[in-house]
Amino acid sequence: METISTLTKLIYFSPNISILEISYLVASILFILGLKKLSHPDTARNGNLWAAAGMGMAILFTILFHKTRMEDGTYQGIHNIPWIIAALIIGSVVGWLAAKKVKMTAMPQMVSLFNGMGGACAALISLMEFPGMQSRFYATHATNMLNGEALAILLGLMIGGVSFAGSMIAFGKLDERIGDMKSMLVRYINLSFLVILLAFVVFIMFKTPVAGENWMIYSLAALALIYGVTFVMPIGGADMPVVISLLNSFTGVAAAMGGFLYNNQAMLTGGILVGSSGTILTILMCKAMNRSLLNVIIGAFGVSKTSTGTKGDRTVKEISLSDAAVLLSYSQKVLVVPGYGLAVAQAQHVCHELETLLGSKGVELRYGIHPVAGRMPGHMNVLLAEADVAYEKLLEMEDANNDMNNIDVVIVIGANDVVNPAAENDPSSPIAGMPVIRVWDAKNTIVMKRSMAKGYAAIENNLFFMPKTRMLFGDAKVTMQKLIAEIKNL
Ligand code: TAP
Repeated sequence: METISTLTKLIYFSPNISILEISYLVASILFILGLKKLSHPDTARNGNLWAAAGMGMAILFTILFHKTRMEDGTYQGIHNIPWIIAALIIGSVVGWLAAKKVKMTAMPQMVSLFNGMGGACAALISLMEFPGMQSRFYATHATNMLNGEALAILLGLMIGGVSFAGSMIAFGKLDERIGDMKSMLVRYINLSFLVILLAFVVFIMFKTPVAGENWMIYSLAALALIYGVTFVMPIGGADMPVVISLLNSFTGVAAAMGGFLYNNQAMLTGGILVGSSGTILTILMCKAMNRSLLNVIIGAFGVSKTSTGTKGDRTVKEISLSDAAVLLSYSQKVLVVPGYGLAVAQAQHVCHELETLLGSKGVELRYGIHPVAGRMPGHMNVLLAEADVAYEKLLEMEDANNDMNNIDVVIVIGANDVVNPAAENDPSSPIAGMPVIRVWDAKNTIVMKRSMAKGYAAIENNLFFMPKTRMLFGDAKVTMQKLIAEIKNL
């Protein structure tokens, strides 16, 4: 300990800038660079490591070098080091195991759980700091708590509490443990709750502080938790990825409040980055689905309108494995359009195998990626990168659509909504206006899925009945394996 304190004295660059502050600056730079690297599949893994290194550094340096100024003018380091280390070890082991074990399809659930923990941390910080702050104001005979510190504490608690409770409900919905509750009443209750919450924050700030009087802070915590539950309950289970992204931005803002409170630059930068990137992601997801955030929040998907595409007794054409194998082998350009079913079937590796096999026959296979295919942003990119598919092989939706007339065969693998023509030609469809990949413009379309079941938006897909479409029913991975065997046998 003495060595540390000597070291700390030595590395004070000026009375106001310590090694701790420099470390926070470096951590913040690592967060930003990490975030930048996350925007490309080739560098995303590294980006994650860089940001994690920044966070690790901020934590380590805080434990080593943080000093609190005591009333007698002396400085004291962090207490409870063994507890902190024990918590760090437990958290790291649980996080490591969860991340290692989680299936790709359960990733949104895990993100939701972890995000909820972040919100809970921010809320707990506020719960812990409020009594001390109130006592200090009481001691100075203040008549209210109208100041930035109180605002940061109260907003941190409110936003963190909502994020925690909301994320837990989102986790339950994604894991199919909690059903949807689409009631207008809940929406009105929500609105009233929000008003009450904000009014309560204002009330606490105007109240004369009394040492030890903590009922308000616990009531605010309870209200925030209840609001978190009622906020997410009416939102359609399938809209959860958007909600998680929104809650993620809430957690970021709540953490930033902690940064203000402790004057901690790393926490502030980290919180702001999470808050802003979560907000941008939420907006981008809504845009890609051509829906407003309000439409998502009021849970309008799948309940507002019924598509005219729901005509039950039409027949679909199937294609045999051998016909599909011949068709593909004698094509020049093939486009794979993957969707959520690719993730469920874990068919990305066989997909890459098909690409290599067809490549050896002079057939060019590329992938058309819809921005909201799957269940989380970049879902398809991550899966295909995992299977070593070259990034240049991936076409964005606009490029895929522009080249569609030249495509000999499109293979739709476990995608449904993102290739639904109703988005373009059925104004009454819930997905009307959502940009889609126009696979029906290709010369042939093969759709691989297990049944005629609907996708995320719970609507029929007229593509399956179109003249150039043929269905290849079965689990995507098994079907692809059989298809590859057929092509090899030709
Ligand atoms: P979906 O429309 O959900 O369709 C997936 C299809 O995969 C299902 O119809 C299912 O049909 C099939 N499938 C499931 N398991 C399969 C398996 N083992 N083998 C073969 N097929 C299987 O998926 P999509 O086209 O990717 O569209 C994504 C949807 O999610 C969009 O509506 C989008 O708005 C929404 N969404 C996405 C995001 C992000 S960020 N990606 C966020 C929020 C919402 P069967 O059961 O018949 O096999």
